[in-house]
Amino acid sequence: ARIGVLLSGSGSNLQALLDAAAAGRLPARFATVISNRADAYGLQRAEAAGVPTRVIDHRGFAERERFDAAVADALAEAGAEIVVLAGFMRVLTPGFVERFSGRLLNIHPSLLPDFRGLHTHERALAAGVERHGCTVHFVTPALDAGPAIIQGVVPVGSGDTAETLAERVQRQEHRVYPLAVAWLASGRLALTADGPRLDGRPL
Ligand code: GRF
Repeated sequence: ARIGVLLSGSGSNLQALLDAAAAGRLPARFATVISNRADAYGLQRAEAAGVPTRVIDHRGFAERERFDAAVADALAEAGAEIVVLAGFMRVLTPGFVERFSGRLLNIHPSLLPDFRGLHTHERALAAGVERHGCTVHFVTPALDAGPAIIQGVVPVGSGDTAETLAERVQRQEHRVYPLAVAWLASGRLALTADGPRLDGRPL
């Protein structure tokens, strides 16, 4: 399968996917990495791995729909069959999401449905939870509400700060995202009308 990755920042999750592919744990090729920010470090990671990159700056578009259409066109041009959101800090329109339905994954830094949206580590600490983590999910038009595929769970300690917690959660992100993408790329994972299925069984 050919993968397109969308990102806005550091791209450590992209790196985990590139490393998994290089190690033979992800049966896929990277068709393109697209960033809305020219200074995203993830672009350098892609280039170092020989993956073609594109910058599509959202500020050049008056409407969200136009930006999303440009991103969708770039993905189609690159032949991307699966689209992986890896720290892409733009909300996608329903039109985009529907176009890639069942082929569009995101990773969110919380145990969904808890802490949708931003600043999840700060909010988890403020709420005093004992467990926190990350969730890979299919993207649907409702923000951070698509069906979950796999979660990585970490304990929260009394000495934790948002930074120590983020670091612990990111180690889980780098473990579970390559797994989920590999499942989708190999056809083991699918989004059906009855929800996500892995090897034909409900998740
Ligand atoms: C991760 O925390 C991910 O959960 C969230 O955005 C962040 C991306 O980090 N969606 P990186 O750019 O992959 O390092």
